[in-house]
Amino acid sequence: MNEHFSEQQAPEPRVSEPQAPAQPAEAARRRRVIVWGAAALAAVLAGALVCVAVSSAEERNARDAYRAAVARWQAIGGDAAPGSLSSELQGLDGEIAAARELAAVLPEALVGVDARTALEGAATAAQQTAAQHGGAGDTRGPASVAEPEDAAKLRTATQRIEAAIAAREGAGQSDDAALAAVTEQRRAVVAAVDTARGALVTVVADQAAGLTGASAEARQALAAAGESLAAAPVAEAAASATALTAALDAARAEHEAAAGPAAAANIDDPASIAVVVNKQRPLQPISWEPGDLRMPAGIPNPNGQPLRAEAATALEAMYAEAAAAGVPFIITSGYRGYGLQSSLFESYTARDGLAAVETYSARPGHSEHQTGLAADLDDGSGCSLDSCFGDTAAGRWLRENAHRFGFILRYDAGQQPVVGFIYEPWHFRYVGAQVAGDMRARGIANLEDYFGLPAAPTY
Ligand code: DAL
Ligand code: ZN
Repeated sequence: MNEHFSEQQAPEPRVSEPQAPAQPAEAARRRRVIVWGAAALAAVLAGALVCVAVSSAEERNARDAYRAAVARWQAIGGDAAPGSLSSELQGLDGEIAAARELAAVLPEALVGVDARTALEGAATAAQQTAAQHGGAGDTRGPASVAEPEDAAKLRTATQRIEAAIAAREGAGQSDDAALAAVTEQRRAVVAAVDTARGALVTVVADQAAGLTGASAEARQALAAAGESLAAAPVAEAAASATALTAALDAARAEHEAAAGPAAAANIDDPASIAVVVNKQRPLQPISWEPGDLRMPAGIPNPNGQPLRAEAATALEAMYAEAAAAGVPFIITSGYRGYGLQSSLFESYTARDGLAAVETYSARPGHSEHQTGLAADLDDGSGCSLDSCFGDTAAGRWLRENAHRFGFILRYDAGQQPVVGFIYEPWHFRYVGAQVAGDMRARGIANLEDYFGLPAAPTY
């Protein structure tokens, strides 16, 4: 080798040599990647297309199935909830509850026990029907047949309709019968509620007419409460009835405050000291007997006839004052039972004839003496059971003072057209100091006028 050649070594070429071509294995690999990628992409695209196609077919099928179900549902007369058994049962439940609530607040004193019993009876019968058919299954259809938008919802809706169709068809006749029975009970309960509330409204209207002492406001409120009850939905009947009875109580309280003792008196009960007995108003029961008779103490009583305890006590007080005033009296008659009045009436009739007797002696069951609250008084001056007793000192004192002890002169002069009997200045009737004092203060001569009762000249 020469020196030059050895000092000057040929430099490495700086330009790149052309690349050697790829090896055949690598090229193949690349080709495979490209091919598989394209294939995968194609598959994905194809899959998506298939999915879209399948999905729209499914939705179409679901929609067709849904429409077919709706058509069948409508063909068997199906509809939404109204009229179905379960909704009827639900309605009946509410009405039974309303009827029971009304029965609970219905005042027996106003409408009588029968109205309340009828209402409770209707509720009980309806309850039995409800229990009988409550397990009959729900044949209620879909709440709506509006067509859903997607397949899943369509399928769910279709299933519900199919189930309703199956239930409706399965229940068949018996379901129709149950529906009819429940519907009938609904009508019966509503009718019972209407009858009961109607009875209350009518009775209250009758009573309102007599509450003349109540203010105009109270009477208007009462009328409005009556109208509200008549128009109230069944579910609100009990609340309206309560409001009506409260309005009645308020009006009555005003009336009683204005009208005095007369309004509060019980004139029908034979045991009441205010009972009114005349030719039109027999004792009820007609042979009623008092349970608290006793002999007035310290007063001459030759026939030995007792009085009711309260009247006896009052007569003793009156006797004490009369005696102190120098006009003592005796009792010629007090309590006379039905039997004794019968014998007296017969013997007077045999003696004087019926027409005459009717003017001075009451038929049995129509005599105040049978109440144990009436006493015939005399002063031994020869006017016993005679109109001249009114002119005696004792007779005059009694006329002026009896009211302070709760007695009234029951058959005063000139009162026969109202009271039915001639003047009996000896016959004093115990009514209590409140009524007697009120009658005296207001110048009212007889119980019929005082209590606003019809005249009783005859039987
Ligand atoms: N003397 C009266 C009216 C009666 O018999 O009761
Ligand atoms: Zn008498």
